[in-house]
Amino acid sequence: MALRTGKLLINNEWYEAQSGKYFDVINPATEEKLGSVAEADAADVNAAVKAARRAFEEGPWKTMSARERGRILHRIAMLIDKHKEELAELETLNNGKPINETLGADLPLTIECFEYYAGLADKIHGETIPVNGNFLNYTLREPAGVVAQIIPWNFPLLMAAWKLGPALATGCTVVLKPAEQTPFTALRLGELLLEAGLPQGVVNILPGFGPTAGAALAMHPDVDKVAFTGSTEVGKLIMGMAAKSNLKRVSLELGGKAPNVVFADADLDAAVAGTLRGIFFNQGEVCCAGSRLFVEESVRDSFLEKLKKEAESLVVGDPLDRKTQMGAQVSDEQFQKILGYIEKGKAEGAKVLAGGERARDKGYFIKPTVFDCPSDDLTIIKEEIFGPVVSALSFKDMDDLKARANKTIYGLSAGVWSRDIGKAHRLARDIKAGTVWVNCYNCFDAASPFGGYKQSGFGRELGEYALELYTQVKSVWVSLD
Ligand code: NAI
Ligand code: MG
Repeated sequence: MALRTGKLLINNEWYEAQSGKYFDVINPATEEKLGSVAEADAADVNAAVKAARRAFEEGPWKTMSARERGRILHRIAMLIDKHKEELAELETLNNGKPINETLGADLPLTIECFEYYAGLADKIHGETIPVNGNFLNYTLREPAGVVAQIIPWNFPLLMAAWKLGPALATGCTVVLKPAEQTPFTALRLGELLLEAGLPQGVVNILPGFGPTAGAALAMHPDVDKVAFTGSTEVGKLIMGMAAKSNLKRVSLELGGKAPNVVFADADLDAAVAGTLRGIFFNQGEVCCAGSRLFVEESVRDSFLEKLKKEAESLVVGDPLDRKTQMGAQVSDEQFQKILGYIEKGKAEGAKVLAGGERARDKGYFIKPTVFDCPSDDLTIIKEEIFGPVVSALSFKDMDDLKARANKTIYGLSAGVWSRDIGKAHRLARDIKAGTVWVNCYNCFDAASPFGGYKQSGFGRELGEYALELYTQVKSVWVSLD
């Protein structure tokens, strides 16, 4: 296969990095080089922020009507739709996820996200507020300004859409840094943004590494806001850099260790299917993955038996094959990290019910793994693994369950399986997490908010809630005397 190359998008032109450096990008299913991409660092960040600032203050973006911005967003959605097969294949090659998932989830959700914010662009408005005295008081919702967006490798194109959609709808300008492992679909999206007629400098795309390009963005004094998705560790660094530089606004979508709770009165076949989807979708490289499985004692053995059988029957293989259900982990680093956790689970006394080792000799494949855990204190219960590993525990009753489900530094999501609607809603209320799925798992819609409690971050992406991240409110007082 011919090697691909990628450059930096600054002010609607494609550039090499000022340093002239390129870095290699790997296909994780073959461990072979997929291509190379220009490596942005602080000098390129300066150029991109300058372009974004000019586009924000002086460009047609500012004077254009909100409806016209919406039309451009709609054209972006249509162009992605037109090229969806090509984009799905590119995503699969670069990330290792199955083509069925890129075609069935990543691409449709990406298109819907741009469509949703296309429709929202001209519905962003302030209010008039009744105040004491003889005044007219009203609010304006203004764009936040120049926005840095730093995204991860697990849903490369979709994460770009979640970030760009609301930022563009509100009239911000953007410097987007894709993850170093997976820059290719973001760069292809850059070409489509130009084709859609996005004015100069509105979106700039800089592939590069975290400590160089990423940190330069988070530290930049002329960036008004930074939006980040990735590890909790780096989220904390970003917040520190924002504080040290110019107090730029911050939103963070970070790690998770979601409880997935199966009550004895659930439809157990549906719960098994949902549990599989909850942990093995995207090779488990999902921040909201249901990685801590709590099964009510009375059904524990039969449930785990079924789960083991189903996990062992999942097809792990060539991500480009339509029959494949689980592909490769994104990188050697993630592959090693997950295998390390699997060994730690075994060493700390967890029993392997399924998987527990790599699959295939070449490529970063891991078998769908189910652990039966003797206690809540295991490392694999506490730490985010970000791989196809589910750790099962059992519980006695609701009181026992509630405290244990919430015993985590994270709070991104949770699953509840029960036919007792009162119980399910009570637990949905009591779990400290930004999303709760009842009798389903990993459902997404551009209209529904997503984000974390506790160390899973703050700020809500998607829906109208995301507009809060990219606007600021001005209160205007007018004397009527
Ligand atoms: P990471 O947090 O290091 O990388 C995510 C993004 O942040 C990338 O674009 C990266 O270049 C950038 N970045 C890294 N260091 C930075 C810095 N000092 N300043 C600014 N930007 C920086 O995540 P990594 O190392 O790829 O994965 C480690 C773990 O993080 C995973 O095993 C998983 O547990 C978690 N993770 C969570 C994600 C989520 O969706 N919440 C996504 C990716 C990783
Ligand atoms: Mg990292």
